[in-house]
Amino acid sequence: MAYNLLKGKRGIITGALDANSIAWKVAEKAHAEGATFVLTNAPIAMRMGEINKLAEATNSKIIPADATSIEDLTKLFTESQEVLGGKIDFVLHSIGMSVNIRKNVPYTESNYDYFMKGIDVSAMSFHKMLSVAKKLDAINEWGSVVALSYMAAQRTFPFYTDMADIKAMLESIARSFGYHYGLEKKVRINTVSQSATKTTAGTGIKGFGDFYDYSNAIAPLGNATAEDCANYCVTLFSDLTRMVTMQNLFHDGGFSMTGVSNEVMQKLGIQDSPE
Ligand SMILES: NC(=O)c1ccc[n+]([C@@H]2O[C@H](COP(=O)([O-])OP(=O)(O)OC[C@H]3O[C@@H](n4cnc5c(N)ncnc54)[C@H](O)[C@@H]3O)[C@@H](O)[C@H]2O)c1
Repeated sequence: MAYNLLKGKRGIITGALDANSIAWKVAEKAHAEGATFVLTNAPIAMRMGEINKLAEATNSKIIPADATSIEDLTKLFTESQEVLGGKIDFVLHSIGMSVNIRKNVPYTESNYDYFMKGIDVSAMSFHKMLSVAKKLDAINEWGSVVALSYMAAQRTFPFYTDMADIKAMLESIARSFGYHYGLEKKVRINTVSQSATKTTAGTGIKGFGDFYDYSNAIAPLGNATAEDCANYCVTLFSDLTRMVTMQNLFHDGGFSMTGVSNEVMQKLGIQDSPE
């Protein structure tokens, strides 16, 4: 069901790689809620061509941009305003990549060139995006910017390796930049800490299936899907959340606040029957 929550709003949505991507679902929901937006991804990700289907379905233009390039980001924000006919109201940062994870490098033996690459792509890109937008004065007052994070920024998940530190940086950028952009232009900046989700980036992490099942058994509501995440992002882009900024918002079915669940204890053979 749609509520016209984003009627008349203009956005930029990064990171839609295929139909499993969280950004893909956000684009579908934002379209259903009346928004117009530009889709963007790294030029290399365009080769798969999947994004064309989303662009067609949502009547959107695609502007390729490597999120680590100030030049590409400047072009993205400048052209998006031209294409959409005005300043931007919402931005989704849905970009993550760790070479250490990809190459199965243990955390304590992290390759630092890979680490730097991960920081640049997955966290610094957020700062660069905000900095370019602010310099161009490309975002409307009360505009909303959301980036996607994971709970490993607060608690240790050994398999998440350097991405845990990188997500901590991402969340910190939301707070730090949120202060300045809020004060000067009333632009809101938040991170959404999403459940483990079956996407290309998610399933690329070693042991993903196991920790997906584990968090699903711990969280009283179970894992939040990509579609649930998209609904939450839409509320954050809407005027209904206009005083929410500089927050890291858990969207995980209660996983982050649950210490122990009966289901997991039973599986471990510690408890015989549910209470
Ligand atoms: N899947 C999960 O379990 C999960 C959980 C919490 C948070 N997240 C976060 O959600 C976000 C989206 O990931 P996803 O799970 O939808 O996976 P995904 O693989 O579909 O999306 C990741 C996107 O990042 C893009 N990207 C990589 N390098 C880029 C660059 N240099 N410039 C521009 N774009 C680039 C990729 O092309 C891809 O579209 C990421 O930040 C991820 O860390 C994912």
